[in-house]
Amino acid sequence: MPSLPGVGFRFAGVGAHLPEKVIANDDLSDSMDTTDEWIRERTGIGARHVGGMTSELAIEAGRQALERSGLAPADIQQVILATTSPDFMCPGTAPAVAHGLGLDCGAFDVQAACSGWVYGLVVANGFLLQGMDNLLVIGAESLDRITDYTARDTGILFGNGAGAAVIQRDDSDAGRILGWDLGADGDYVHILYSEHDGVLTMDGKEVFRQAVTAIQRTTTASLEMAGLTVDDIDLVIPHQANVRIVEAAWKRLGFSMDKTAMILEHTGNTSAATIPMALADSLYKERITEGSKVLFLGFGAGMTWSSVIVDYAGSLTGTAAW
Ligand code: ACO
Repeated sequence: MPSLPGVGFRFAGVGAHLPEKVIANDDLSDSMDTTDEWIRERTGIGARHVGGMTSELAIEAGRQALERSGLAPADIQQVILATTSPDFMCPGTAPAVAHGLGLDCGAFDVQAACSGWVYGLVVANGFLLQGMDNLLVIGAESLDRITDYTARDTGILFGNGAGAAVIQRDDSDAGRILGWDLGADGDYVHILYSEHDGVLTMDGKEVFRQAVTAIQRTTTASLEMAGLTVDDIDLVIPHQANVRIVEAAWKRLGFSMDKTAMILEHTGNTSAATIPMALADSLYKERITEGSKVLFLGFGAGMTWSSVIVDYAGSLTGTAAW
């Protein structure tokens, strides 16, 4: 496993955005045989938001992050957009997002499903090592375009949203990535996928099992690289798929839910957008302060998985999108 040569960085600005229209659990009982109680108990989800194109949601989250960073559009040197629900098959959505934000820089999509934003963070760190100063890493999804809201397995889970962070080089070395791990296993494509112009099809039980295994594997690898233990981590920001997946993995790893950022109840599963939105929420709630060791943890279709441990620098204020 390669280690990452050190480069100091900070989150200079964050943003989170959800479209206005909400589908509450009770609304779903009109289109399928389900109840609010069942969905909450089995997933932890209370509502999901729908509407908006991926680019529109990404632009709003990106605009907030840029504004909070105090930087000018000309300062951003790269846009990395993690999404599994792009506006078009071709081209990627990132160029439209960069254009909408008035940026003049490179822009590309990362398609690693729910692991995508953490993949993007590692890629951004690589750009910092190559001499860049400011990048915008966004996770945005319009999953309502590939979700059948009459299906009892997938229809209860997915929603739209976007989260963004400005990643800024900081040579004071106060903040940095301490450990990371990215992984994929294409043998599991069939457990969660959407055909072109199709809807998400899922083997829920197998996704659940594989997600718990992936979380254990990637967390252990990142902790090992960082030379840290579970006790050293101040906050975990996991992908928000199903609270029971997180609880099952935590039982094996020894993490506590007290140290875990969860926004799932308000958002549902927004794939690549969940982690940056939960980051914005954690900063808003002052759960992250200077020197906090934060574990970002992605897992999802592919299968893919990703984790990054960050030594946090800065005194940023986040935002709540709901
Ligand atoms: N509402 C009410 N009852 C339901 C529903 C529903 N929506 N769906 C199933 N049931 C009932 C079934 O009929 C069954 O009833 P029975 O025992 O009387 O026969 C019972 O609940 C159990 O059904 P299962 O299909 O076994 O439900 P399960 O416990 O597996 O839960 C779920 C389904 C919630 C989808 C679960 O498998 C899951 O969360 N899997 C993980 C999926 C996931 O998180 N995907 C996210 C995308 S990937 C990622 O982001 C990692």
